[in-house]
Amino acid sequence: MAEKSFKYIILGGGVSAGYAAKEFASQGVKPGELAVISKEAVAPYERPALSKGYLFPEGAARLPGFHCCVGSGGEKLLPESYKQKGIELILSTEIVKADLSAKSLVSAAGDVFKYQTLIIATGSTVLRLTDFGVKGADSKNILYLREIDDADNLVEAIKAKKGGKAVVVGGGYIGLELSAALRINNFDVTMVFPEPWCMPRLFTADIAAFYETYYTNKGVKIIKGTVASGFTAHSNGEVKEVQLKDGRSLEADIVIVGVGAKPLTSLFKGQVEEDKGGIKTDAFFKTSVPDVYAVGDVATFPMKMYGDVRRVEHVDHSRKSAEQAVKAIKAAEGGGSVEEYDYLPFFYSRSFDLSWQFYGDNVGDSVLFGDSNPSNPKPCFGAYWIQGGKVVGAFMEGGSGDENKALAKVAKTRPVAESLDELTKQGISFAAKI
Ligand code: FDA
Ligand code: NAD
Repeated sequence: MAEKSFKYIILGGGVSAGYAAKEFASQGVKPGELAVISKEAVAPYERPALSKGYLFPEGAARLPGFHCCVGSGGEKLLPESYKQKGIELILSTEIVKADLSAKSLVSAAGDVFKYQTLIIATGSTVLRLTDFGVKGADSKNILYLREIDDADNLVEAIKAKKGGKAVVVGGGYIGLELSAALRINNFDVTMVFPEPWCMPRLFTADIAAFYETYYTNKGVKIIKGTVASGFTAHSNGEVKEVQLKDGRSLEADIVIVGVGAKPLTSLFKGQVEEDKGGIKTDAFFKTSVPDVYAVGDVATFPMKMYGDVRRVEHVDHSRKSAEQAVKAIKAAEGGGSVEEYDYLPFFYSRSFDLSWQFYGDNVGDSVLFGDSNPSNPKPCFGAYWIQGGKVVGAFMEGGSGDENKALAKVAKTRPVAESLDELTKQGISFAAKI
């Protein structure tokens, strides 16, 4: 078995890994100093594409079109670019053992990788219905979406079951984006989720009402307040029917499950401090173990603005945390330091012709503004969250570039709100004045 040593190893080949590699390259690494190790077979790419352009029936996005770092307008790192920049890209290599005190990683094939500095960028994995013991959940064509192999399986299933029936389990990000993608591919789509409205971890009932009506108008059927409790299969093992806890059953040619994700931290259990389900870091993404950093979905970091610690499962943070960690590592080598990470939460999604952005914190009271009529051909509305008399969060569907910038400014500066009525009346012009 081979043993290799590097000054820096980035463990993981997702969004954070791509942005960390870009930052190392822009600061300068010597050939052989840096390795990126990924269990995926492709170089780091912009994961959000998998639930959007990758599934278009025509003109679908494909690699190398969306390798990191095109998502933020940065240089596209093609597989060969890593070599040109002196970075070793070690693909199709799963690390199965990590010994943080010995500074070594071991792959499934038994290869050993030694490092001086490690950046953990292992991201998240999907929660599976089989984990909860749901009967028949291992039937064929019950699909999940996290990595490019999953997306390829989904594309194959969409082709094989053309125009068939799809059941989407979960009403969060995957549920909403995949219901739209399947509908665009002409599937008869039913979405099932347990809560009273979709995307409850961000949307208010008012915001959700817009999306639910819009989706219904597009032909997506929505069943709320229940969960998939079992599946039956055809004799060839392919899923046939979804049983719901409320007694109903739905025919299905394919089932997409999006019931949440969990950070991949198990390799490091007992070796590093954890918090809120993730690896605890400081404002430079340094963990409790010397020379070990954690970025992206796995990091639980200080949220300076709010004086608490959080874990964020969104792409903007995965990019920025990776850049921050590499900047901190390089600055420390030169005896310097960088500013503390001061993150403003930013989430977004796109589906059908819709596109929303959210900045800040969705706590306290909320008000809706603008035209949230789902039948409007160009819907454009928003919401503010107000806590302690200040606007702390801002959301907009269909906002222009300038309007979205204004939302970010509001969330960052947290201006005083005169009254909820006044905010509703002023709408986006309140943000534009900040
Ligand atoms: P990420 O999951 O990107 O990468 C982790 C990498 O580590 C993977 O390559 C994995 O294979 C590898 N790995 C894990 N364990 C390993 C091991 N033991 N050995 C070797 N390699 C290992 N966010 C948003 O803000 N807007 C959006 O529109 C979307 N859209 C979206 C769509 C889909 C389908 C998903 C799954 C997610 C999103 N997200 C999103 C969330 C966003 O993509 C996510 O937060 C970032 O990808 C997280 O980046 P990380 O690098 O932390 O993990
Ligand atoms: P999520 O947490 O957004 O939503 C999970 C949903 O499933 C929730 O509505 C939850 O209540 C519901 N649910 C839980 N158990 C259920 C059950 N047994 N039956 C039916 N519904 C059930 O998670 P997700 O949508 O699976 O997304 C996975 C990860 O990918 C997350 O980290 C997410 O942030 C990320 N992602 C983000 C985006 C984006 O930011 N635009 C897009 C896609 C994926």
